[in-house]
Amino acid sequence: MGSFANTKDLGSAQLTIQGTTIDLPLFEGSENEKAIDIRALRKETGAITYDPGFVNTGCCLSDITYIDGEKGILRYRGYDINELAEHCEFIDVAYLLIHGKLPDDEQHNQFSRHLNSHSLLHEDMRHFFDAYPDHAHPMATLSAMAVSLSTFYPELEDVSIQENIDYKVTRLLSKLRTAAAFSYKKSIGHPIVYPKRSLKYCENFLNMMFWTPVNDYDVDPVLAKALNKLLILHADHEQNCSASVVKMVGSAGANLYASIAAGICALWGPLHGGANQHVIEMLQRILSDDGGDVKRVIERSKDKNDPFRLMGVGHRVYKSYDPRAKVAKQMCKDVLARTGTTDPLLDLALQLEEAVLADDYFVSRGLYPNIDFYTGLTYRAMGIPTNMFTVMFAIGRMPGWIAQWLEMREDPDGRIGRPRQIYTGPVQRSVK
Ligand code: CMC
Repeated sequence: MGSFANTKDLGSAQLTIQGTTIDLPLFEGSENEKAIDIRALRKETGAITYDPGFVNTGCCLSDITYIDGEKGILRYRGYDINELAEHCEFIDVAYLLIHGKLPDDEQHNQFSRHLNSHSLLHEDMRHFFDAYPDHAHPMATLSAMAVSLSTFYPELEDVSIQENIDYKVTRLLSKLRTAAAFSYKKSIGHPIVYPKRSLKYCENFLNMMFWTPVNDYDVDPVLAKALNKLLILHADHEQNCSASVVKMVGSAGANLYASIAAGICALWGPLHGGANQHVIEMLQRILSDDGGDVKRVIERSKDKNDPFRLMGVGHRVYKSYDPRAKVAKQMCKDVLARTGTTDPLLDLALQLEEAVLADDYFVSRGLYPNIDFYTGLTYRAMGIPTNMFTVMFAIGRMPGWIAQWLEMREDPDGRIGRPRQIYTGPVQRSVK
């Protein structure tokens, strides 16, 4: 849990409002980020802050994830993302985010066993999938399944219960992965494949996705490794849109499943996790409608009168190359090499990236490829369909959402999330 004990007191900042000066505490975190504590601002001055999109607003102290957007650094609990992606399995990183430390061998094995023993969905839930149309977007289904889990495991609704948190966490991580694979099978009209105890977390998912009664599927260890890495890249990103939604819902006292279901909906948006699907669709359109004309696409994305934006480019926090995009780009090449295939969309993406990096419009605004630019291409190389990309992001982001939710619940300064506004509508008037 984030704590003022790990901050440094920098004295105070003075703010003068209409002739009255007040002192506001100034402090910095363990990586020297400065903050002004404005908790007393409205009480002492009557004024509030105006900050659309919360661009300058810190909502908590956190021990989970550190990002330096200028230098392109991302660390979970102090460990660099590159090191974690290289040396860890996804479930180790999930454990790290949730428990604050990497598991030893025994903890790893126990966590893995728990995940396997909670992997089945209640059979009644399996029938839910039949009620959705085949074209249902799997993100809608996933969110519905997340909140439905709370009806099957009602003890989770008792928000005061902190014990058994391991069960809640493992059920979420394991059952939603199963639900995601079921939603894919349903969308292509194939029988669902149950999870297998003998397989590890990522292998199990790939098996549920690709095994069919007429075609045995042997999990390729290279693809399983790639999936582990991709999910690690997705695992947390501090106070992003979906994590903030999870915490906002949780701050009202809603249970973990309800909070995560809301987070899944937020992630679905094209400016957030939904961008990975939109990147592929954009690349396909550039090839089919624009004949692969990169120059024209770049000009369109810079034209303020054209609503078109380059998907997978730009980030609120990163003003340099997203470190996750670097890893994903290399992985995409590795997976294609493994499957012995090429992808014209990757060639186009590389050309687009080159054009972006050479263009002053993007460079001066700090716009670089983000995680979604290459992860979709990597999932595609693994045979995962486009409408499942954001679901993959959601599976990966689950430990981050859980860790953020738990930290929020334990925060002694935590209160219900409730921003204010500046009203600009009509002043009081009468209907007569
Ligand atoms: N193409 C062209 N111009 C862009 C783009 C883009 N993709 N992104 C930002 N800009 C411009 C924007 O027009 C603005 O220009 P100006 O200063 O002249 O008005 C400037 O860059 C700053 O943009 P902003 O919209 O104020 O930045 P933001 O921090 O509010 O938005 C963003 C960040 C990620 C929503 C935005 O960059 C974007 O829409 N990118 C495309 C969608 C995308 O790839 N989203 C995934 C983000 S990473 C994964 C995740 O969060 O889940």
